[in-house]
Amino acid sequence: MPAMNSDALKRQAGEFAAGFVESGMIVGLGSGSTAIFATRRIAHSLHSGELTGVLGLPTSLATEAAAIELGIPLTTLARHPRVDITIDGADEVDPKFNLIKGGGGAHLREKIVAQATERLVIVADDSKLVDQLGATWAIPVEVIPFGWESQAAYLESLGAAPTLRMNGDAPFHTDGGNLILDADFGPIVDPAALARQLESRAGIVEHGLFIGMTRDVVVAGADGIQHLRR
Ligand code: A5P
Repeated sequence: MPAMNSDALKRQAGEFAAGFVESGMIVGLGSGSTAIFATRRIAHSLHSGELTGVLGLPTSLATEAAAIELGIPLTTLARHPRVDITIDGADEVDPKFNLIKGGGGAHLREKIVAQATERLVIVADDSKLVDQLGATWAIPVEVIPFGWESQAAYLESLGAAPTLRMNGDAPFHTDGGNLILDADFGPIVDPAALARQLESRAGIVEHGLFIGMTRDVVVAGADGIQHLRR
């Protein structure tokens, strides 16, 4: 059998997780190239009548645009403060299901939706599984533009090598109008402690460490789909 490319694996994981959605649910729609497959499958099931009464809650402006294009009826946290299920991607997943997210810069809205969610399901291809967070990915740290250099210095003082994320020649701006510092810490021994240190700093809006937020990970690899639960 020919090796499957990463897009095919992402599709498998996303579409499998879309099968957890039931009629009438409020569904958080994740961001990125894996979660979009779940969003597309949910749209397909709504159009075919397999699902009814589902309302989507997008985790980024890009996902909102895609969901509108796909014809998924949308809601907001103001109208529905409790979300039944959210299907979202991740950049790294460790054995305790702690995550790094924010490769697309959407981790602030993703975390807001995740913390309002009953069941956060992470979808990924198996390249995202790591023994230790930070092994392959820097932590995206969203900072307000005012005094961002001081947050870069703080990240350095914690042992990271921070890089200002760019979009061509200009700094990348998040949906909230903020900047991203990609903070390379190398393998992280205690992600929960690091999360607390990042949260204690004024000017840091949110970081991409998601600690203890999910019990469900759907991973696609050459041997098929695994639904991992803790
Ligand atoms: C968006 O900011 C991210 O948190 C994504 O969910 C994460 O980067 C995974 O994206 P891919 O599925 O595109 O790898």
